[in-house]
Amino acid sequence: MIRVTIDGVVQEAMSGERLIDVINRAGVKISQVCYHPQLGPIQTCDTCMVEANGQLVRACATTASTGMEILTKSEKAAAAQREAFDRILSNHVLYCTVCDNNNGNCTIHNTEKLLGIEHQPIPYHSKPYEEDHTNPFYRYDPQQCILCGRCVEACQNVQVNETLSINWEDPHPRVLWDGGSTIGESSCVSCGHCISVCPCNALMEKSMLGHAGFFTALPKTTLSGMIDVVKGIEPETGYGAILKLSDAESHMRESRTRRTKTVCTYCGVGCSFNIWTKDRHILKVEPLDGPTNGISTCVKGKFGWDFVNSADRLTKPLIREGGKFREASWDEALGLVARKFLELKAENGPDSLAFVSSSKCTNEESYLMQKLARAVIGTNNMDNCSRYCQAPATQGLFRTVGYGGDSGSIRDIENAGLVLIIGSNTAESHPVLATRVKRAHKLRRQKLIVSDLREHEMAKRADLFLRPKPGTDIVWLSAVSNYLLDNGMVSTEFLAKWVNGLEEYKKSLAPFTMEFASRTCGLPVDILKDVAHMIAEASGVCILWAMGVTQHSMGSDTSTAISNLLLITGNYMKTGAGAYPLRGHNNVQGASDHGAMPNFLPGYQSVDDPEVRSRFESCWNVQLPSTKGLDNHEMVEAIHQGKLKAMYLFGEEMSLVDSNANFVGDGLSKLDFFVVQDIFFSATCRFADVVLPASPSLEKEGTFTSTERRIQRLYQVFEPLEGSRPDWQIIQEIASRLGATWQYQHPSEIYREIASLTPLFAGVTYERLEGFKSLQWPVRADGTDQPLLYTKEFAFPDGKARLFPLSLTEPTDQPNAEFDLHLNNGRLLEHFHEGNMTYRSEGIREKTPDTFVEVSPELAEERGIQSGTWVQLTSRYGQVRVRALVTDRVHGKQLYMPMNSVESPVNRLTSSYTDSVTHTPAYKEASVHLRVLPEVGESPLPRINYRFGHPTPQHGVEVERKWKRPDYRMPGNGLVQIQTN
Ligand code: SF4
Ligand code: SF4
Ligand code: SF4
Ligand code: FES
Repeated sequence: MIRVTIDGVVQEAMSGERLIDVINRAGVKISQVCYHPQLGPIQTCDTCMVEANGQLVRACATTASTGMEILTKSEKAAAAQREAFDRILSNHVLYCTVCDNNNGNCTIHNTEKLLGIEHQPIPYHSKPYEEDHTNPFYRYDPQQCILCGRCVEACQNVQVNETLSINWEDPHPRVLWDGGSTIGESSCVSCGHCISVCPCNALMEKSMLGHAGFFTALPKTTLSGMIDVVKGIEPETGYGAILKLSDAESHMRESRTRRTKTVCTYCGVGCSFNIWTKDRHILKVEPLDGPTNGISTCVKGKFGWDFVNSADRLTKPLIREGGKFREASWDEALGLVARKFLELKAENGPDSLAFVSSSKCTNEESYLMQKLARAVIGTNNMDNCSRYCQAPATQGLFRTVGYGGDSGSIRDIENAGLVLIIGSNTAESHPVLATRVKRAHKLRRQKLIVSDLREHEMAKRADLFLRPKPGTDIVWLSAVSNYLLDNGMVSTEFLAKWVNGLEEYKKSLAPFTMEFASRTCGLPVDILKDVAHMIAEASGVCILWAMGVTQHSMGSDTSTAISNLLLITGNYMKTGAGAYPLRGHNNVQGASDHGAMPNFLPGYQSVDDPEVRSRFESCWNVQLPSTKGLDNHEMVEAIHQGKLKAMYLFGEEMSLVDSNANFVGDGLSKLDFFVVQDIFFSATCRFADVVLPASPSLEKEGTFTSTERRIQRLYQVFEPLEGSRPDWQIIQEIASRLGATWQYQHPSEIYREIASLTPLFAGVTYERLEGFKSLQWPVRADGTDQPLLYTKEFAFPDGKARLFPLSLTEPTDQPNAEFDLHLNNGRLLEHFHEGNMTYRSEGIREKTPDTFVEVSPELAEERGIQSGTWVQLTSRYGQVRVRALVTDRVHGKQLYMPMNSVESPVNRLTSSYTDSVTHTPAYKEASVHLRVLPEVGESPLPRINYRFGHPTPQHGVEVERKWKRPDYRMPGNGLVQIQTN
């Protein structure tokens, strides 16, 4: 710590801290138009000029040093600030009263007030450009753009999509997309970073336009007239009077615009933000304070919320009668559910019923669902969709380090020396997390290795891209481990202190030589040695993996191999290192954590542990079943065998997302009684006997747990749509009709019970999670959490990790002469899973209307396929018809099909083979035959899809180019030009 003086008052600062941060912390108000703490100094606006030791400097780009004397309001500083701001106003018309951005947080408006500028010495000059409305979600108005460059910085260096730049050398600079394309045809992924950081109305969400203000919906001609009047009276009245009027209008907005914190309902990254609403209209999503994401979102979190107000929402319970559904009252539907459950339990025993929880719903709801299954019905037949994706990763970690969660935070991934991504299309499946890797790679020279079948964005960016043969990651991972051990490139100290089982593990590696791996995986030995050396030399290694690893018949073993590799190289127990299985759904981690599993009560407490059971039994006042129940995969088998008669499932599209969908559908149609609870009439509802209308995340309170074990609260944005109910209330109602006496009035009461029964969450309370606060489990009773999972010991009785020996397993469903192509599948950035929510966003549909199958250029040439050609894919299990997209993301005889389709779901083609330990389907092991159909349609991806754009990477906003303009002069006298990194 050092001391500096600000306007005569001594302040503490950290050595090297930005002056502007010190000044802001001291509560001294100075103008700072282009500065945003999450972007760092951009230095385009010059409004933050202060005197430091007698010299005028930009406060954002100058660092504090001992004894520095800073004057923020000296004559020189004030004149420079005003001059800088005058120049900004020459690019911007102040029509605040009729501006949708007049919400109290407009930087231009507030700076105008702060500096008390009454008149505009440099007149406004318009630019020869039109507004650009070609993106479905936002528009750019060059006339209002002050060229601060925040958007460029965010796009280039935070999102790292590298779409935006400013043509500083042009007589009329403006923001450019792909160097001069329309927004709609550019590489813009509609993540919204640029809009979220724009300090004025130049970039705005279309959902705000005409909706945010009281006068902003007026016809354009009327608005122009009003703006002209304002401009006309400004010379006489000055800005002060005009701003008073707009301030009054802004205050009026406060009475009708609500800002509510929520957590994203899509992927497991766990972005949180404020959502602005006016009645049931979503004005915008405003990310800023989220502990994981800050200003970041992806297109789904920022713009993918239309589904909440979709006309398709279910609002009445439905009962199947005579092969058709009819509407019913809640009373009738719930009465029927309770009666049938009781009948079937009486006839066939509790284990003839099964329960499937939702990874989209809250922790509290998963807890209640498993409590219903166990305490009310008396069965452990309870699972959630982590069975479809994450269970093998959890297993790999259980075997080696003890807990089934990410070993650190996204911040650790950012700080790693080397990130190794295996079987994860991170930029599309976990977009905001990927931005942190892209940023560290671009700005901090973090090393990146990617192993994947497809050359997706992260693979293109990688320092080393491995394309092993399908299903062989376990081989090269084990060979690299073997090589590291053989060559003394491991952390002997860490192994000696923290790890058991080295000798046995070493023996198991004997078959995994580099040569064997090279032959099996199709990777050169030299490349594998490079991987080993990069791992050994890195200051810290984080391994990220997802469904490309887990959805294999050896998914648990490959996950184990990853953790083994991290252990021998000492990449646990420190920041910037560790194992990161990337959780798919927003609450897939939480659903498992809170007991929606056949073998675990909440907090991974085993159902066969008498001590655990007795704790729950005395709280719930029941006897609990003690043997493991059926998992999702076993449930389908049990239906086919006639053992399982009834199922209650909520928020889960099982008939499309489970593998071998035809087999699953046949099973569901054989159930005696099937209850589906959802917000839409999903494909799975077609098999139901009763459909119950539920509420999405924006209509309820509760908590979600993200991939980094982060528990966060979501607050209710809207009342439940009339006729629908939050899932926790429906489950409670069913429990009551089955004889339970639950009395939860609010999800916080449910959490109190969870915390009292579950050591992992002992200190979790709603108060500790208030607003944007969060906790990363385990949470001790005093509220201490653990961002870094292993600090003092591993989660085994002796505190030591365990190396787990592995052997080779062959992938299933291999290609042969008939089924000669390998079919891979996964997510797309724009659509979540089958698209039940995202297809209801008009903008997303416009950009990405349908699914497709990716075909390599070589295969396309061989078979006469072009983008748009219809093809029929046939596997050993089913058939789909789909349009081809020719792309070099895939190669050779490998196809890729995203899962965003209800009509042609890829899972009609996948098998019932599973990972032998967890029963996670081997989705990624599928072989198909491709038949070219005679029809050729449009390309399945329109030209306006971002994949056709041409990014323009550069180093941020490149303000030095602005400084070189002949018309640029630093404001104030005798200024020092600051050079920055
Ligand atoms: S990708 Fe598009 S939405 Fe995202 S920051 Fe860049 S220009 Fe803005
Ligand atoms: S569009 Fe970009 S450069 Fe223009 S004002 Fe907004 S953030 Fe600044
Ligand atoms: S990255 Fe995931 S959590 Fe974040 S906004 Fe996108 S979908 Fe939501
Ligand atoms: S805030 Fe420092 S130059 Fe803009």
